[in-house]
Amino acid sequence: MARLNILEFPDPRLRTVAEPVEEVNDEIRQLCADMLETMYEAPGIGLAATQVNVHKRLLVCDVSEDGSDPLIFINPEIQGSSEDLSSYDEGCLSVPGFFEEVERPSKVVVKALDEKGGAFEMQLEGLLATCVQHEIDHLEGKLFVDYISPMKRRRIRSKLEKQHKKRA
Ligand code: NI
Repeated sequence: MARLNILEFPDPRLRTVAEPVEEVNDEIRQLCADMLETMYEAPGIGLAATQVNVHKRLLVCDVSEDGSDPLIFINPEIQGSSEDLSSYDEGCLSVPGFFEEVERPSKVVVKALDEKGGAFEMQLEGLLATCVQHEIDHLEGKLFVDYISPMKRRRIRSKLEKQHKKRA
């Protein structure tokens, strides 16, 4: 297993729209395992392949408190969303240190493939619903900061750019 490097906003590669996974093979399973390891070490509750610069449609998440419930969604598709919305203080491993309220449908039905290539459908609610919608956004090149005001987004962008310059 390997820890992967996580791209950070405003890296333009985070804006890439991911391609469907054509075959769930050992390479994909290894990627899922590496992404889970990277997510747990960060620590975070979700990670999309886009964030580790692999532009394939897959994501991992675990919203349990003790990291005991890893979930893998390959080629995830939202089949339906509730009209009622929930709002969470969202964060993102690609936008480290910043949290902002984002409103999303509180329940969604998601169709995806598991790590064996089997299709499944799952009804999600609460934090898991928010997390999976946030990760699916990544596969479309979208970030949670796209939902907040341009002023707040610019402030986050310039703070992160300063940190990146210091690191370079
Ligand atoms: Ni994120």
